[in-house]
Amino acid sequence: YLLVLVAVVAAVWAEQFSYEGYKVFRLNLSHENQLRALASFNKNEIVDFWSSLRFDGNPIDVMVKPEMQHIFGWFLNVNSIKHEILIDNVQDVVQKERVMQQRAPRMPQGRISFEKYNKHDEINAYLEQLARDHPDVATLENIGKSYEGRDLKILKISTDPSANKPVIFVDAGIHAREWLAPAQATYIINQLVEVAENRKLLDKVDWYVLPVVNPDGYEYTHSNQRLWRKTRSVGQRCIGTDANRNFGFHWGEIGASTDECSDTYMGKSAFSEVESQAVRDCIWKYKDNIKLYLTFHSYGRYLLCPWGFTSAFPDDYDELKALGDNVAYTIRRVKGTIYTVGTSTNVLYAAAGGSDDWAKGVAGVQLAYTIELPEGGSWGFDPPPHQIMDHLPETWEGCKAYNHYIGAKF
Ligand code: ARG
Ligand code: ZN
Repeated sequence: YLLVLVAVVAAVWAEQFSYEGYKVFRLNLSHENQLRALASFNKNEIVDFWSSLRFDGNPIDVMVKPEMQHIFGWFLNVNSIKHEILIDNVQDVVQKERVMQQRAPRMPQGRISFEKYNKHDEINAYLEQLARDHPDVATLENIGKSYEGRDLKILKISTDPSANKPVIFVDAGIHAREWLAPAQATYIINQLVEVAENRKLLDKVDWYVLPVVNPDGYEYTHSNQRLWRKTRSVGQRCIGTDANRNFGFHWGEIGASTDECSDTYMGKSAFSEVESQAVRDCIWKYKDNIKLYLTFHSYGRYLLCPWGFTSAFPDDYDELKALGDNVAYTIRRVKGTIYTVGTSTNVLYAAAGGSDDWAKGVAGVQLAYTIELPEGGSWGFDPPPHQIMDHLPETWEGCKAYNHYIGAKF
């Protein structure tokens, strides 16, 4: 019996991807040429860049597997790139986080905690409970299933669905490893539905929230490979598509990979992924009412507006920028967190096939933003569980500023 148990445990462990020996380098560039050298190194995707490749004074974090560390170190020296070791062994950090996750108190079914990162079924159970407890404001809609068959559920929050109020559409978790994003979306739901004094925000505005766009990937990061980013659809050679390169607007033109094994693989066709299809169909269904689209990612502290496929500015850029600046200012007032506001191409990088570009360019949702939440913890993607609540409330203040703008404008 014990032997069987040991065998089962061993099998489960064997399945888990190990980051043993992986290191994260933090690079500080002093010259544009170094950026160009890095960019060419990046082409082969033998290292994993966590920060955007820019020459803007910010450090660049890059994860390097053991067998590449020698050549990467040599490359850094040849190009005189200043660097430090940010994480000496990524697996230690994965392990530590797992322990913290397990220590967090268990919640009764249907209740939610913001002291840990919740699994997809816990988040869905919470949405169901809210719809049961608060039928006056919360309705659940199934908008499809993920590749592996998980339910994609959107919570519609409205005090009067027949009033045709302007809608703020929120999604999160299109990238699996960015755990803070679903937490943020769930917190928005919690505030709107469960906090009485926030009900007045719904006088003029409805909110539709999809907390986990990519539940297969999200679950995979919990159980197997912490830093997985893509969906889990099975390809010829590799698994997964970057769903945020998969939307059908200037699809694949720039900043996306045609290589199935790449972390930014654009997919075999536009909307090849059922998850991006579900978001597309839902936004399309409500497009006449949706006035603002917010899609949450981590990390970097950016409020990004279209376009991500070109460096050209949309013709209403002034409004997008002014609203973004206003939200950034509101967030900054809470505890000093500073966001950068601008178009994806101009302040971060060019990447076509993003959901924000599609929402604006095709569905006609005039105001669209990708929100890159603050970095936290040892690897940036997420603060440790007990620090989640240091981050969620300030972003919620920003959401209230968005709510105010939409309520006043429409
Ligand atoms: N970090 C995000 C990503 O890589 C940024 C997306 C911004 N939007 C865009 N259309 N490029 O997906
Ligand atoms: Zn992301």
